[in-house]
Formats: sequence, structure tokens, C-alpha cells
Amino acid sequence: MKTSEFKGFYKLSPAQRLKEVAEFSGLTTEEAALLAKTGALDMELADHMIENVFATMQLPMGVAVNFLINGRDYLVPMAVEEPSVVAAASNAARMARVKGGFFASNTGPVMRAQIQVMNVVDPYAARLRLFEARDEIMAIANAQDPMLISLGGGMQDMEVHIFPSPIGTMVVVQLIVDTRDAMGANTVNTMAEALAPHVERITGGRVQLRILSNLADKRLVRVRAVVDKEALGGEGVVDGIVAAYTFAAIDPYRAATHNKGIMNGITPVVTATGNDTRAIEAGAHAYAARNGQYTSLTTWEKNSDGDLAGSIEVPMAVGLVGGATKIHPVAKIAVKILGVKSAVELAEVIAATGLAQNLAALRALATEGIQRGHMSLHARNIAVTAGATPDIVDQVVAAMVKERKVRLEYAQELVGRLKGK
Ligand code: MEV
Repeated sequence: MKTSEFKGFYKLSPAQRLKEVAEFSGLTTEEAALLAKTGALDMELADHMIENVFATMQLPMGVAVNFLINGRDYLVPMAVEEPSVVAAASNAARMARVKGGFFASNTGPVMRAQIQVMNVVDPYAARLRLFEARDEIMAIANAQDPMLISLGGGMQDMEVHIFPSPIGTMVVVQLIVDTRDAMGANTVNTMAEALAPHVERITGGRVQLRILSNLADKRLVRVRAVVDKEALGGEGVVDGIVAAYTFAAIDPYRAATHNKGIMNGITPVVTATGNDTRAIEAGAHAYAARNGQYTSLTTWEKNSDGDLAGSIEVPMAVGLVGGATKIHPVAKIAVKILGVKSAVELAEVIAATGLAQNLAALRALATEGIQRGHMSLHARNIAVTAGATPDIVDQVVAAMVKERKVRLEYAQELVGRLKGK
């Protein structure tokens, strides 16, 4: 069995880390070579992805280790500019492993699309006429994507909502569509557009918008973990994390920062796999406010053993087919590194990374604060920039942190002194 558990992974060089990742994931020599060069997205391909291309923008991609999810080991690629994020996720995943790692489930890859109808003279009767025509509506929607139907997806259900509004009563038809391994935006938007004339015929109204909803509350992932109190540093830390979570549960100002910490785990994996970060962020925050007050996306409790029980429930509209996931050469390899076989499995790994990230942040905040950890990672970068070789880097970092002088000139001075010995 391959394990994602690594000790001292951070001490390896990028080339050594790539070798480990390639071995774990069975990357080909070509794939590894592509990852080794920093300009992996060539200009011609970039020019086909968006408009007015004149450059590409690179981000560092780290790998979070130690993830055990539903009994399977994962290495999690994370593309992000913020230091500490990858280390924190790896650290939290290591603590969660003690009690079996993360346990994940999902509600299936089900998206919503909305059709806005105005000027309906009898909205309540129109609503029922739409339900009477449900089979016809589903048939028209499903005729748009025979491939999706052959894969077991397609439109499953319909909702009709009536909203009073300052510009007249609005009827909103919602298509509930299983999009399988696609993120599904194109699929459901095509269905909504194709249905528009039929909805106008049935309601007697005028269709305006036809577009998916990013509040993908039928595409939820749920992940939980039990974190051993000793691995965390004792029952006092468990209590501190519960208190930190409770703050986020009751106060939107804290919840925003708490959820930002969760997104520190989620967004980098979404980016690395070429998925739509804005869709995920919009869905997560809208879901966090679903009961009228913005609150935490996670919960943290002390269980009967005194251990910490954490959970997350979040919409996760990510895909494996279509979009940049299938085009961007690095995104394709990131998916291979994850070894996920379906969009819902990818969604589970992403949510587990979010839960891990939140655990790491709350643990730091409830104990020493986040600056110390930040500083030692920052100090490592400074030490390497100052020319510290692997044999002296730990000493340089320790001296800078101890003396609270995390500065390039001081690192250079220390390197000079240690090398001169
Ligand atoms: C920093 O990027 C994220 C944190 O602020 C999250 C939190 O406060 O929970 C540390």
C-alpha cells in the first residue's frame, strides 16, 4: 500500500519532492519533466484558453502530504501564493491520521439552473401548468446532452418558485441536473436556454435570465475527522479550538476570517486542478449564509473521549471533464497525482483539505498564535535566498526566529559565519 505519510518532506529539494510525487502517482518521465519546468503552459495553448492573451502567470505548486480519506492515501497538489498553507494542511492531516483520517460523503454531482420568467398574469396557476408539463420539460432538457444521459446523468427534477418583487411577480423555474463528472455550467446553461421558449409558452410570460446557480446546495460534500487530543497537544487545546469555532459560529466578522482559512485549503486545490475558483468561493459563502446569518462552514466539538470532532459541509461544484482541467497540462497532471476517479471524489478531497486547513489555523490561533509558524517558514525562505545550504539551513532559521531578526542581511551574516567555520 502506498502511503502519503512523509516525515520531513519539507526538508527535501524541489527535485527530490518531485521524484517522490512521481513515484507515488506513477507519473511518466514526460509528465515529471513538464512539472520540472516552470513555464509548462505554452503561449499557444494559453491563447486558446482566454482572450487577449499576452503572458502567463505562474504560481508555486506545493504538495500536501499525510492525507488519508475514506481509508485511501492522497497527495494533494496545491497552487497558492501564501506561505504556511501547504505546511499547515500537511500538519493537520498528520494529526487527523491518528484516528483514521477523514471520512467523506457527498450528495452527488447535482447542479441547479434558473429560468427567470416575468409578466406572468397568473403565476400560481402557471406554476402548476409547469408541473403538469414536467415530463415534456425534462425530455427537452435531456435531449440537449445525449452523452450525459448515457453516463447516467441528466435533468432529475424541477422546482418552481414565485417571488413578489418591485417590478412585478417573478416566476423562477429551477432545473435540477445531475452533471456527472462535469462541473456542469455549460450543460445546465444549454438546457435552460433550450427550455426558454417552452417555458414562455406554458406560462404565458417572458423569459429573462437562463443561468446556473452557484449556490450548489444539492452538490454538497461532507467530511469529518476525529483529532486525537494528545496529537493536538492536550485537552486544553481541544477546548481552545472549540472556543475559537464557537466565536465563528456566532459572529459574522470572525466567520469571514474563519471561512477564509478554510478556503486557504480549498481554493489552491481547485486552482491546481484547473477548476473554477470563483464558482467554489461564491457557493461556499452563499451556503455559509443560508440561514440568514453568515456563519462557519465547519463545526468543532469535544467528543466523549475528550478528542476533537470536526466536520465541514460545503457545496463543491468541481469537474474532471471539460474546461481547463482537460486542457492545462499541469492541471491534468495534478488530477493524476490525486488519483481521483470521479468529480465527487475530487470534491471530497478538496473539502477534506479545507477542514484540515481550518484545524491547523484554529490550533495555531488557540495556542501560540499564527505568527510564530509563519515566521519560521518565512525565515526558511529567507535563509535559502541568503545562500544557506541544506546542512546549515535549520541553524540559520533557528537563530533568526530566536532573535526575532528574520531579515535577509542577518541571514546573509549568519550564512557567512557558519560557512566560515
Ligand atoms: C490566514 O490566511 C488565515 C487565518 O486568518 C484563518 C483564521 O483566522 O482562522 C489564519
